[in-house]
Parts: sequence; structure tokens; C-alpha cells
Amino acid sequence: MSLQVTPTDAACGAVVTGVDLTTNLDQSVIDELRAHWLKHKVLVFPRQKLSNDDLVRVSRYFGETGEDPFFGHIDENEFVCAIQRNADETAPVFAEVYHSDWSFMKVPPAGTALYGIKIPPVGGDTLFANQVLAYEEMPDDLRARTENLIAIHSAELGYAPDGVYGDNDESKKRSMRIRPSEKAREKQEHPLVKPHTETGEKALFSSFAYIQGFVGMKKEESDALLGELYMHQSKDEFVYRHKWEKDMLVIWDNRSLLHSATGGYDGHDRLLHRTTIADSVA
Ligand code: SIN
Repeated sequence: MSLQVTPTDAACGAVVTGVDLTTNLDQSVIDELRAHWLKHKVLVFPRQKLSNDDLVRVSRYFGETGEDPFFGHIDENEFVCAIQRNADETAPVFAEVYHSDWSFMKVPPAGTALYGIKIPPVGGDTLFANQVLAYEEMPDDLRARTENLIAIHSAELGYAPDGVYGDNDESKKRSMRIRPSEKAREKQEHPLVKPHTETGEKALFSSFAYIQGFVGMKKEESDALLGELYMHQSKDEFVYRHKWEKDMLVIWDNRSLLHSATGGYDGHDRLLHRTTIADSVA
């Protein structure tokens, strides 16, 4: 069986076939997969019948298991979370704003793995926006205003008790195990233009989903800048729209991408299992 890697026709992403992820992979294959991951940023593995243990093992080819600060895990496996929305759920779709997973951590995760279990017949795509390209294609004036900014990240907007997923969340019937906490108000600084911890490539890191403002900048000014940045970061030319299938594994690089969930599948179940892949350096 030989590895085949076919890039998408979009700004990032590649489909990988010719590998059986239910078996232990040789180090040479893992090295090859990691190199493709760093290049294409999103790897898509269709038709893989994975158990939760397989999912954790494959994720660990890309890095240690990462922390999930505001999620509960599934009963069967302490390293796996469920991204879930049932057919009868009326709660807004989870994670519809472009973000980089848990970017408010001191050492944010390198990547995320997501595995399709129940996929709706319509909607529910995941969008990935290439932030190396977004940085490279920045208009000169925006680059000049942002190049050396330090961003202040926090999970407050989402996961504080009064946040979008907090205790006041009207849609308490959400099937996802979200765990709001006062800890979500903690802040962490990262450069907005952050060199990738493995490739060194500069990328725009995270978005207003987790960035509250910039060091030394007034709130009105940083809010306006975050809005302007978001418009740029999420331009169609940087985006790959991923369409899910059951038994499909996707592994993405949080250091060089933003991603967002999409809706359009009301009345249908959607269930994916997720692992977080830690980075070794901040
Ligand atoms: C996520 O941000 O992990 C969720 C992505 C999705 O549901 O498509």
C-alpha cells in the first residue's frame, strides 16, 4: 500500500489515501504524514474505520495528547470529546466563528483531530482558512498596523459562566459536554503575527473569538482592528470548505489555520469525535 497525497484545489488541505490507520504505522510513514501536514495544514483521511483508541493513537503520531480546558470527555475514553448536535437541538451551532483551538492557553495546541461518526446529509461543513497566506497577502497598511502587536487572548466570551456557552446559555439542552468556568476569564498574551513553532512560517494567530484586544491599545481601537482583521483572515481565497463523510478523519494545524463550523443541518444528527494535539513549545 503506498501513500497518496492529493492537494485540494483550495488554499490548504490534502486528501490522504493508501494508508490503513487501524494498524500501527512505521516511523518513516509517520514522518512523511507529518511533513504533508505541515505543508498542507489539513489532512483528510477518508474511509478509515477507527475506534476511539485508534483515534488517540493516530493523533499521537502528530504530538502528545493536549488539554481540553472547557470540555468534558466521552465516557468511553478520557482523551476524546464529542462535537455533537442532535436532530432536535435548537442551540446555535457550536464554534461558528473562525478560531484557533484554545489559543488562550500558554502553550496552545499544535493541532486537532476530528473523526466523522454521524454526518448529516446536508450542511455541517468545516471551513479552514490558511493564515500563512492571509499574512502574506495582507494589504501594506494593515500589515504596518499589526506586525508587532501583542494580542491578549481569553476564553471569557465563550466559556465564562456568563459567556456564549455559559450557565446562562438558554439552550441548556445542548448535547455537548461544555464546562463553563471562572477560569475562562484568565488572560494570555501571544504575538498576533506568530512564527509557526515547527516551520517558522509567520501566520496570523487566532481571531476575535479568543483575542480580546492588544497590549497598549484602547478597546474601541482594538475592536475595530479585530473586525478588520477578521474580514481579511476569512476571505474566500484563503478558505478550504471541508465536506464530511462518515469514517473520515481530519487532522489540522492550529498554528497556521483558523477554522469554523457551519450549520444548515437542523433536523439531522451530527456527531464527531475530537482529540487535541499538544505543542511542545509556546
Ligand atoms: C471545532 O471547532 O472543533 C468544531 C468544528 C466543526 O464542528 O466542524
